[in-house]
Amino acid sequence: MIIAMDGPSGSGKSSAAKGVARTLGYRYLDTGAMYRAFTWWMLERGVDVEDAAAVASRAGQVIVEISTDPDAPGIRVDGTDVSEPIRTREVTGAVSAVSRVPEVRARLLVLQREIMEDGGIVAEGRDIGTVVAPDAPLKVFLTASEEARALRRAKEIGTVSVETTLADQARRDRLDSTRATAPMTKADDAVEIDSSELGLDEVIEAIVRLAKERGI
Ligand code: DC
Repeated sequence: MIIAMDGPSGSGKSSAAKGVARTLGYRYLDTGAMYRAFTWWMLERGVDVEDAAAVASRAGQVIVEISTDPDAPGIRVDGTDVSEPIRTREVTGAVSAVSRVPEVRARLLVLQREIMEDGGIVAEGRDIGTVVAPDAPLKVFLTASEEARALRRAKEIGTVSVETTLADQARRDRLDSTRATAPMTKADDAVEIDSSELGLDEVIEAIVRLAKERGI
């Protein structure tokens, strides 16, 4: 059984997906962390992330290992733990450019499907319900107002203003939803949940209820 959770940045996907996985005793896959890890690797090696051909030519060299334990998420690139450095503003600002490159997506798609093969997993990202797991028995598209999302992100990061977060976020969502390959979009059969006015527990409860209704 696979639960697909997609949605824009700051919609509360990660916290909700982890909470759902814990409640159901499922594994958890943060596909955004994988795109971030590729981006970190490219920046480390001085690859110009706006140069799609340069990114594509290096995409085959990155070795990513990711934990699927919702209580101990973590990611390694070539054996180095990059769980923290992938969250910097520099990586966040470059990740949309790297994740629009088809060669990067093709590599991560194989890896993501391998991890999800045995089921019992909540996978979150932008294209899980549409591309990675189109047959998932439950797909959720989690949204929230721009302001609610920016407020959450700014709180999480702590060091930047809500205005800056709002601008960064709008730029990233625009790039992620307009790229040619696997753009962020709600699957036709996904249930949309607007979390603007909901607490985390309420979002988790709503998704667990849907899962139970569908025999998951
Ligand atoms: O969920 P996040 O903010 O950590 O994701 C980082 C970026 O990775 C996001 O801006 C777009 C990309 N991404 C993607 O293209 N496809 C996914 N399934 C997950 C993330």
